This record gives sequence, structure tokens and C-alpha cells, in this order.
Amino acid sequence: MFYRLARQNSHRHRIFDVFGDFCEMLAIEFSQAVDLTQREQRGARYAALLQKYDRSERERFAQMTACLVNALESGMSDCLGTLFMGMDLGNAGTGQFFTPYEVSRLTAQMTLLGADELIARKGFITLSEPACGAGGMVIAAADTLRSMGVNYQECMHVTAVDIDRTACHMTYIQMSLLHIPGIVIHGNALAPQSPWEQWVTPAHVLGRWDERLACARAVEAMRALLVDDPAHHPGADDAPPPAKTGPDCPNRRAATQMALF
Ligand SMILES: C[S@@+](CC[C@H](N)C(=O)[O-])C[C@H]1O[C@@H](n2cnc3c(N)ncnc32)[C@H](O)[C@@H]1O
Repeated sequence: MFYRLARQNSHRHRIFDVFGDFCEMLAIEFSQAVDLTQREQRGARYAALLQKYDRSERERFAQMTACLVNALESGMSDCLGTLFMGMDLGNAGTGQFFTPYEVSRLTAQMTLLGADELIARKGFITLSEPACGAGGMVIAAADTLRSMGVNYQECMHVTAVDIDRTACHMTYIQMSLLHIPGIVIHGNALAPQSPWEQWVTPAHVLGRWDERLACARAVEAMRALLVDDPAHHPGADDAPPPAKTGPDCPNRRAATQMALF
């Protein structure tokens, strides 16, 4: 059905543009609901894209969205990645051959062994995907956590990068529909200091992940301070001064407050 609709929309446009424009417009729709900082610029881009299509073509885009939602509702998978590969839209030059979902799932199961214990201790895990494609590996990680009885919507934060815009849009759409907290960065993973654009998912914003991540970083920094403090590495013969090891130790007090916050 999705293929048929996309092909019908490609009578006046290249199929590559139809798929890319569909993904970009849908990504913008999600982003507009949560990211006020990009609202004006993305709104203008959306209007420009929409103008390219007539009424019946726009209606087909809405039906393509429904197909995608229905597919993801019936089970987690790399739905857009499979469609993208099925339509032969991959750029061989940048190695756009997406991993079959079953293989991503197996990889995630091996990588996330013991993740439930880590989450029980730390509250959440972070996951980095530096060449995300359509987000298949990210979805497989969420799927794996879910099958371990862990709520990935609360306990996993993803940073996904791709050099290709449509890949970023696909990942962002699927992460948004599956309510995966994270940031999708359009950029070169080999030059991470200069990203071109970034997309925060609705789950990232609604879950206040900027604060959660900042807090976790502060706790880590405090822990590092405590470990560096020689008072907390007493040798056999040199007992630390009492005031520094008790609850009044400034480092320990601050770290406790951060952890409680
Ligand atoms: C082989 S695909 C893998 C996609 C996904 N990880 C999967 O397993 O399905 C590689 C992806 O890396 C992206 N890519 C290639 N060079 C990159 C770079 N320097 N920085 C970020 N992404 C890159 C491509 O656009 C492509 O989407």
C-alpha cells in the first residue's frame, strides 16, 4: 500500500524526492509540537515542501503516514528503513545498506546483556548510534529492553547521528512514533564538533531529558571529585581527618543532594 501511494505521487516528481519530502514533512510535524527554537525556520521549510504537491498528492501523504503508524503499532521494526531499501533509494556512496531488523535485534540482545541491572542502579542508560540510517539499531535496542521488562521510554536516551538528511528524518520519525527519548543529529560522526542540524524527540522534551542528563553529568563529576579526594583513599596507616569523611564533607554533601534531586 505504502509503495503504491508513493509511486502514485511520483508521476510528477522523482520517487527519491517523494520519499524524502514525505519524511521531512512528517519529521517537521513532530518537531513543531515540541521544539520552539526551530519553529519559524521549520514552518517555512514545511510550507515550501507542501507547495510542491497538489491536493490528491497531499492526501496520499496522509495515507502513507497512516500506513506507517499502523505498521509500527502492530510491532516494533525498522519500517521506514525496510521501505527505503525496498524502493532502492539507498546511496551506495555513503554505505546506505541498512541492517535487516532481525540482525539488529540479535545485536541489541548481545549488547544489552545486563542493561537491566545497570538501569536499576543508575536510573537509565545512554545509547550512541553514530551512523543511524533509518534507526533500525535504535528501535532494536528499545524492543530488546521492552522484552526484558524495562520501560525504554523512561530508561533509555539515544544520541543518533547520520550524514544523510533523509536518514535523520527517518530515524526521527520512528523514534517519535515509538516515543524513544533522544536527539537525532544531522552531521558527520567523524567531525562531531560541527553538527548541521539537530532534532529533539517528543519523548526527550516531555521527559525533561536535558535536565536528567545534566543532573547525571553533575553526579558523575561529584563522584570523580570524591574519588580524587585523598581523604577517600585512606592507606592502612594514614587515616583521614574525621571532618572530611563524615556527612559534613562538602563533596559528599553536594553529591548526595544531586543524587536526590
Ligand atoms: C550501513 S548504513 C547502517 C545504518 C544503520 N546503523 C543500520 O544498521 O541499519 C551506514 C549509515 O551511515 C551513514 N554514514 C556514512 N558516513 C557517515 C559519517 N561520516 N557520519 C555519520 N553517518 C555516516 C550513512 O548515511 C548510512 O545511513
